[in-house]
Amino acid sequence: MPMRGLKDYFKKAEKEKWAMGQFNVSNLEGLKAVFQAARSLKSPVIVGTSEGEGSYWGLKEISHLVNFLSKEYRFPIFLNLDHGKTFDYIKEAIDAGYPAVHFDGSRMDLKENINKTREIVRYSEKKGVFLEGEVGSILGSSAILDKAPQIRAEDLTRPEDAGLFSQETKVKSLAVSIGNFHGVGKSGDGPKIDLQRLKEIKETVGNLPLVLHGGSGIPEDDLKSAIQLGVVKININTELRSAFTLALREAVSSGEIAPYKYLPETIQAVQKVVEEKIRIFGSINKI
Ligand code: 13P
Repeated sequence: MPMRGLKDYFKKAEKEKWAMGQFNVSNLEGLKAVFQAARSLKSPVIVGTSEGEGSYWGLKEISHLVNFLSKEYRFPIFLNLDHGKTFDYIKEAIDAGYPAVHFDGSRMDLKENINKTREIVRYSEKKGVFLEGEVGSILGSSAILDKAPQIRAEDLTRPEDAGLFSQETKVKSLAVSIGNFHGVGKSGDGPKIDLQRLKEIKETVGNLPLVLHGGSGIPEDDLKSAIQLGVVKININTELRSAFTLALREAVSSGEIAPYKYLPETIQAVQKVVEEKIRIFGSINKI
């Protein structure tokens, strides 16, 4: 039987009300952790790379690794380029074999964002690549932040803009700004998710799958409510970076110098976070 693609999984997720996790990875330990978690829970999964992560890996290198895992194990693990900001960079990822890309035109005004996204849609469709668009600005960065970013009204996705963008661009999924931000505030000040806005966005975009970025630090109940309202993909990075780094500090403190002896502790720490998120997202046994 042929394996389902991302589009089929999003359709199934929307119908059955669960979401796929996109887990960003910087290194092999992160990738092993995500793959082991997904396999052990029989959950389809997306691996993401930000611009920094992608250049650390090399786009071709990570693309070959993930595509290898998918083929070798016949497992639904998909690679997505996270927040590609230029056509050239997105093209490079597509040409390197990424099956999915996210174009972030959120710094542009809506008209320019639509025009640029359309240009990329033409290229991605020709190559059979899945394209995520973005309307509204998702602030912050995947780190422990001194202070949560101040989200202004104009940063949030307006439902009518989302509707127009989806009609005009024909993207395959849409990232929205509904109070979510990248990173976690030091004092635990988390995002305030505007579920009413999410509901209105969903009403204007119909069956277009919605994506929630900045998943770290969002309370479980909000994640679950967002899934009920049509979110089918949730991105997680900061909590994985944090788990890896804390475990690494602890692991090297013993004085051990053989990486293969101390790195498994970092894999376990990241895997634990990924498994928790997969449980919350409800994607267990959905292969
Ligand atoms: P967090 O770092 O807040 O989990 O966000 C990740 C993300 O949205 C990647 O696009």
